[in-house]
Amino acid sequence: MKVLVLNGPNLGRLGRRQHEIYGSPPHAELANRCVEWGRALGLEVEVRQTNHEGQMLDWLNAAADDATPVVLNAAAWTHYSYAIYDACAQLIAPLVEVHISNPHQRPEEFRHTSLVTPYAAEVVAGHGVEGYRMALEILARPSRGGTGRGAGPSDDPWTDPSPSPPVRS
Ligand code: DQA
Repeated sequence: MKVLVLNGPNLGRLGRRQHEIYGSPPHAELANRCVEWGRALGLEVEVRQTNHEGQMLDWLNAAADDATPVVLNAAAWTHYSYAIYDACAQLIAPLVEVHISNPHQRPEEFRHTSLVTPYAAEVVAGHGVEGYRMALEILARPSRGGTGRGAGPSDDPWTDPSPSPPVRS
């Protein structure tokens, strides 16, 4: 099964960006790990990153047309982009929302809203780059269309039991 891992703005700066929040692996390393994790799970993973919202919308629209499952870290767009919200609404295959940090535990109020969560089958936040592996494991479950290869996390909608998860609308 093909899976797209789509990363939004500033995630190309991983490894050079706020290590204390985002850790040290650069984006290329994250991409390699995702491909390897996916292979072990029987998934064909393609990782993309863009700082351009229109590009992200084109990728999401194509994923909708092709019914491709998506792991999405929309980064800052998560918190304010109604265009991303509308694009997520059109997805047919499961969408898993990922954040390296846990936005709900960060001090900035604007990070406490997600326009992706309403359309996400599950949300993984606050697990660093390992969160991408968890997201791929979720998609690899037979109930999500995968083969079930590999051990997955629990079926909780929030794999990070943060004290203040967002309310799904
Ligand atoms: C992020 C969290 C967002 O609030 C932030 O704007 C990012 C990265 C994360 O992965 O933790 O750029 O999505």
